[in-house]
Amino acid sequence: MTVHADARNDVDRADSDPLGGVYSSYRGPSAQISRDPTLPWWRRILPVISSHRVPFSIAIGLSFVSLVFQTLVPKLLNGAIDHSLIQHTATLRTAVIEVLVVGVIAGITGIVSRQYVFRTAYNVEADLRSLIYEHLAWLSFSFYDRVQSGQLISRANSDIRSVQMYSTFAPLIVVQSFIGVIAFAFMLSINVVLALIAMVVMPILYFVGIKMRRVMFPISWITQARLADVATIVDENVNGVRVVKSFAQEEAEVNRLADAAERVAWAYIKDAQLRAIWSPWVQNLPQLGLALVLFFGGWMVIDGRLGIGAILAFNAYLLMLQAPFMMLGQLVMMGQRAKASAERIFEILDENPTVTERPGAYDLVDVKGRIEFDHVSFRYGDGPDILADFDAVIEPGETVAIVGRTGSGKSTVARLLTRFYDASEGAVRIDGHEITDLTLHSLRTSVGVVMDEPFLFSISIRDNIAYGRPDATMDEVIAAARAANASEFIERLPHGYATVVGERGYTLSGGQRQRIAIARTLLVNPPVLILDDATSAIDVHVEAGIHEALATLLERRTTIVIAHRISTIALATRVLVLDDGRVVASGTHEALLATTPLYAQILAQATTERD
Ligand SMILES: Nc1ncnc2c1ncn2[C@@H]1O[C@H](COP(=O)(O)OP(=O)(O)O)[C@@H](O)[C@H]1O
Ligand SMILES: [Mg+2]
Repeated sequence: MTVHADARNDVDRADSDPLGGVYSSYRGPSAQISRDPTLPWWRRILPVISSHRVPFSIAIGLSFVSLVFQTLVPKLLNGAIDHSLIQHTATLRTAVIEVLVVGVIAGITGIVSRQYVFRTAYNVEADLRSLIYEHLAWLSFSFYDRVQSGQLISRANSDIRSVQMYSTFAPLIVVQSFIGVIAFAFMLSINVVLALIAMVVMPILYFVGIKMRRVMFPISWITQARLADVATIVDENVNGVRVVKSFAQEEAEVNRLADAAERVAWAYIKDAQLRAIWSPWVQNLPQLGLALVLFFGGWMVIDGRLGIGAILAFNAYLLMLQAPFMMLGQLVMMGQRAKASAERIFEILDENPTVTERPGAYDLVDVKGRIEFDHVSFRYGDGPDILADFDAVIEPGETVAIVGRTGSGKSTVARLLTRFYDASEGAVRIDGHEITDLTLHSLRTSVGVVMDEPFLFSISIRDNIAYGRPDATMDEVIAAARAANASEFIERLPHGYATVVGERGYTLSGGQRQRIAIARTLLVNPPVLILDDATSAIDVHVEAGIHEALATLLERRTTIVIAHRISTIALATRVLVLDDGRVVASGTHEALLATTPLYAQILAQATTERD
């Protein structure tokens, strides 16, 4: 018993602060994207951004204030040089104090604005991420049959990032570009002619910037795509490492990755080459502007038509102007990328679940467990009929085995009863209620399924077993593990129930995983239980132990076992033989052996296939 007490303590400690308090201030998205697919992409995202309008407005407002004060500095400098240093009409001290005060205000507002910008940006990102995951959780199995998980993960990462960047930084860049207008106004106020001369290079800078982006843009897309290829290969090699090694294909895989890495390197080098050609232009064009200012301005100073301070001020303004002109061009590129990313995100968000609760759906309560398949037909997507006129009634408390060839649709029957998919024709009823009238939650908590390939999470064994009932006590978890004949091997593990199973449970054997999956379902204690090949990887003698425990548990519930082993089928009081999508025979094991040659044939085939 000490083992269990320790295990419980370990688990409690691990669970006390699962997120380390890092995201404690995040409360989930407060807005949805617009559901109207005819709107432009940024209009659809807008509700998410505007749910953060207060910090965002503060960010933009303060950034504007900061920029205005920044542009004041060269103007003050101009005045100070001309009035304090040259004409001695004002004291130097006031000028210095003025510059300092303005600089400090610009600095502080800049710092605060930056903090609000990043707060908004990362909250928008968290919102988009939550919205996508919420939606993914809501989508039906048929969606997951179609899409690749790698694609989904990339959409949830890079696409969210690029939409977030554009939607929060674009307005900021626009505000920063406004600095150009202010700076130009100040330049005009100092000297109109010199202001016009200084600005000559700006349009050139803008067009060179656009040209550069046009050249660089395709290569950046190619880089992205090639990076995704590398990610896919790495992902497959890590997840499929057992297959790679067992076929001794390490070398081939290493070569495949080297090829992909080389292709990424080519794209990066190309990118760097283009950058090397183009960035000197962008960086040095402003120097041309400075030269022009020095030439014409200096001439005016010599002529006595301009103060020396003006040259310095113009110098500072030109440097200030350089950034916004370049960023405006960048905005176009970011916009194109964000649009493409947003459309990929919408592809997920616009997908509707095929299995839905109808309005007014009610909870299934006091389940007796009478199950009725009423002339059910089913096909996956546009595929062939898997079930055709499948008709069966299972009485409360009965244990029924479904036997059929591989691919005959046995698992499909289980998937229809839990509404992983909806029947194409006919009806499925529990206690006389059509399952499409019931809430999905009550249906799925009433019908427990143990699948043949159980998926375990990378959490402790205790948490895996308690997955459907996180509030279960340790004693309940242990009782469930006992019933599934799993408690012995769990207690022998170094950390017992606190042992964290490796990714997808790979540190356990197939049979051990199946037993944990059985315990997980038994803990929920569903009135209807489906064991879909749930003991296929478990040793025959271990299985016998599970049967003993199950036999007492099964008395109180309706159970469907899908199995090939005669020992498992023996649990059932009745066997349904599935063939051609329908029940072709029903009876006890002995009766079927005597009357239905197909039944004996299926069992014989299953035995040679498996053992
Ligand atoms: N998600 C799916 N999409 C398309 N076809 C499927 C899907 N799942 C199963 N099938 C097909 O449906 C048939 C029945 O599958 P299943 O019910 O899993 O058979 P069983 O459990 O009897 O081996 C098989 O031919 C299989 O290829
Ligand atoms: Mg199956």
